[in-house]
Amino acid sequence: MAGVVVVGSMWGDEGKGKVTDYLAQKADIVVRYVGGNNAGHTIVYDGKKFALKLIPSGIFSGHEVIMGNGMVVNPKAFLEEVKYLNDAGIDTSRIRVSDRCHVILPYHLEIDELQEKRKGDKSIGTTKRGIGPAYTDKYSRIGIRMGEFVDEELFLEKLNETFPLKVMEYPELADLFTIEGIYNEYKEYAKKIKPLVCDTGILLDEYLREDKKVLFEGAQGAMLDIDYGTYPYVTSSHPGANGVSEGAGIGPLYIKEAIGIIKAYTTRVGEGPFPTELFDETGDFIREQGHEYGTVTKRPRRTGWFDAVVVNQSRRMSSLTGVSLMLLDVLSGLDTIKICSAYKYKGEIIHGLPSTVKGVEEVEPIYEEMPGWEEDITNVQSFAELPVNCQNYIRRIEELIHCPVVMFSVGPDRKQTVVLRDIEF
Ligand code: GDP
Ligand code: IMO
Ligand code: MG
Repeated sequence: MAGVVVVGSMWGDEGKGKVTDYLAQKADIVVRYVGGNNAGHTIVYDGKKFALKLIPSGIFSGHEVIMGNGMVVNPKAFLEEVKYLNDAGIDTSRIRVSDRCHVILPYHLEIDELQEKRKGDKSIGTTKRGIGPAYTDKYSRIGIRMGEFVDEELFLEKLNETFPLKVMEYPELADLFTIEGIYNEYKEYAKKIKPLVCDTGILLDEYLREDKKVLFEGAQGAMLDIDYGTYPYVTSSHPGANGVSEGAGIGPLYIKEAIGIIKAYTTRVGEGPFPTELFDETGDFIREQGHEYGTVTKRPRRTGWFDAVVVNQSRRMSSLTGVSLMLLDVLSGLDTIKICSAYKYKGEIIHGLPSTVKGVEEVEPIYEEMPGWEEDITNVQSFAELPVNCQNYIRRIEELIHCPVVMFSVGPDRKQTVVLRDIEF
């Protein structure tokens, strides 16, 4: 009875899609437990590239995939993604959607936009996919759940309860939407989704009792966690392993391994503090070498040095048993590479992030410098083949984050993956 979870351990976009797809080859079921189509997970194999926002990356291995109750699902975006996969010849009949996940409706997207506008220069830089507003409705107990959405009568009833409340808060919505308009369009989507909807908690429990290998695919990253991220510049959920039981409907004891996905440097999209951010040509070099432009919004990603304080915080939150170090190839060609080992804050050395944005903005990263490497490492298939300076960089990261590097990646393709310790389910 064992599950493995793949968790983003920075600010998202660490390469979770690639690792999930890789590990899915050994798994029986892949489960997403958090977020919605704010995620963009890229998978590359046999020269083909796919980007998934909602459907678990395990779909490419032909497994059953589950979208757990912790997700927020935009039905229209979901059906578009199903079509995108079907057009590419991928079977999507084995998707199961939780009857308890919350549905994102068009007014959530509008509210996201309005909230960002109202915040002015304090805007979060959300993906504007209605994620925060849908989770807000969930916790305000006025959301519409998938089980209700796929029941025509209940959907209309819930819409009649919820939409007027939203209009009270955001009068602009009355000019844009009517209950009838939303209902007529979305009940058609509901009909198509209905056959996939079930109590996925029961399903998962059965699979775990049958000793099936369950892989949980995280979305976003631990630094976007609603409690331990750089609040309020975060997403509205728990992306780490701490979110699995909440978002999949099973207890935490099934998690045997939590693999943190980290980049060999750091990136962030959207606003909010980023202590090791680079504003110089090295930052541009990393952005260009790593093609660091958003999968969902195409925004250029902010880039910076590896930050061990950030990864240590993620390790603590998710009880990481190992990390997969991604995009190592991007650093080839740099004379020196810096690693942030701690912060200086109010005259003291600290190893955790302050809880306030002001505090995180004030920390001064303490850097170690290491010599870089020139060699192209994109065809490397073992640790021993790596240039010595690159090996030393990996070993130093392990020491600073108190966690072993169990895999590393030297390119986007499935084949450009090196496993240092087997991950057993
Ligand atoms: P996710 O959201 O965590 O799944 O990550 P994204 O897909 O948003 O961003 C990661 C990007 O890096 C994608 O374009 C991947 O194809 C790419 N990628 C993953 N691993 C590597 C690697 O080791 N080297 C390079 N060059 N690209 C990688
Ligand atoms: P994956 O799964 C990177 C960021 C947004 C914004 C903040 C809040 O691909 O790693 P939201 O729309 O969630 O309310 O936006 O969170 N964000 C991500 N950044 N990767 C993601 O997903 C993200 N999902 C949300 O840019 O700063
Ligand atoms: Mg992404």
